[in-house]
Amino acid sequence: MLQFLFIQSLLAAKVCYDQVCVIATPVKSQTCFTIHSAYEGWNAIGVGSDRMSGSDIVIGWQNSTFGTTLVNLAGKGHFRPQINAHQVAYLVPLFDPKPEWSAQSFSFCRPTLVEKDSLNPVTANSKYILAVSNTLPVNVDSSSSSFGYHDKRFIFDLDATIPTAYIVHGVRDSPPRGNPDPTASIPYDQILMMHGLSMVFAWLIAPFAGIFIARYLKAQLGHSWYIAHKLIMGLVGIITVVSVTLVAMYYSQPHFSNSTLVGNIHVKIGLTVLILVFVQILLGIVSNHLFDKDRQSVPWWDQTHWWLGRTLLVLSVFNVFLGINLYYSDSSVPGFVNLICGAVLGIALCAFLYGEFVLGATIHVGYKEIPDQE
Ligand SMILES: *[C@@H]1O[C@H](CO)[C@@H](O)[C@H](O)[C@H]1NC(C)=O
Repeated sequence: MLQFLFIQSLLAAKVCYDQVCVIATPVKSQTCFTIHSAYEGWNAIGVGSDRMSGSDIVIGWQNSTFGTTLVNLAGKGHFRPQINAHQVAYLVPLFDPKPEWSAQSFSFCRPTLVEKDSLNPVTANSKYILAVSNTLPVNVDSSSSSFGYHDKRFIFDLDATIPTAYIVHGVRDSPPRGNPDPTASIPYDQILMMHGLSMVFAWLIAPFAGIFIARYLKAQLGHSWYIAHKLIMGLVGIITVVSVTLVAMYYSQPHFSNSTLVGNIHVKIGLTVLILVFVQILLGIVSNHLFDKDRQSVPWWDQTHWWLGRTLLVLSVFNVFLGINLYYSDSSVPGFVNLICGAVLGIALCAFLYGEFVLGATIHVGYKEIPDQE
């Protein structure tokens, strides 16, 4: 068997770039890959996609006894790849002798075609993504060890279904753009989670309370309504700025590419809201300063403040749900999170029905209303 494999390996499709080579060898119903790499951390190859998302990744690194820890991962768009439930790839003795320059060499085989839809088949048109790092995973002997971002990645097309005598196919280098790896101290998925949680609070909870107080509780609260409204909405503004900045700071492709339509819309709405939040806060301050207790109608700046506020709220609520679905686009649990957030929104809307029909809106016009002195 081994001899057979070795003879086969004389014919192979090979791609080299920088200081890493991939050699693909079809062997019966299997396709075997060999990686030679000068990168001393981990080396990974993904099959079936030119991005991490949707890619069947096999990662390998040298363990403490100079063997290789090999793990099948499922590529996620916004997350570190997760351990794949289907551990189909298995280590085999090296197909191709380790070159002088290589720090890590290993060979593995996996089925060329797969029975279930759960894995990408190796086809003539398969796309590949190769990622390499000079930093070893935290625990080299554990297949569930965490590991940092790649130092480089390469995307290429390769026909691994026919043995081609050492033909180098087109290789496209695609180094990560954006900000450098923030190291493993705060993984990107956690940043997104913080962004999401803070935005849920800032746009699904807080503004409803702020508007509720302004619209229905002026009479009950007296002048405190304005202080409460100002504090809550100021908090919404601050959280929005911090939360968007956080994501922008750790923006790092390809983990955060807005190449999908939904991702693009989410970012555009988010930035629009971010800018308009400042306008809205300014309008609030102006309206308060120009407040005249004897006024007979609501001036345009007040009305603009109301309508801009409502528009921002609708946009942001929509964006929160877009964000939830983006975040969970690679996983199967968005339904549950959507349900919880939908319930929060439902409670807020019920409170508004109660306010509108039971408490009634308080609008400061003429002498009937409680004057606001600030
Ligand atoms: C290192 O990897 C090899 C396989 O390449 C394995 O046989 C060996 O047990 C591993 N060593 C440790 C300490 O896990």
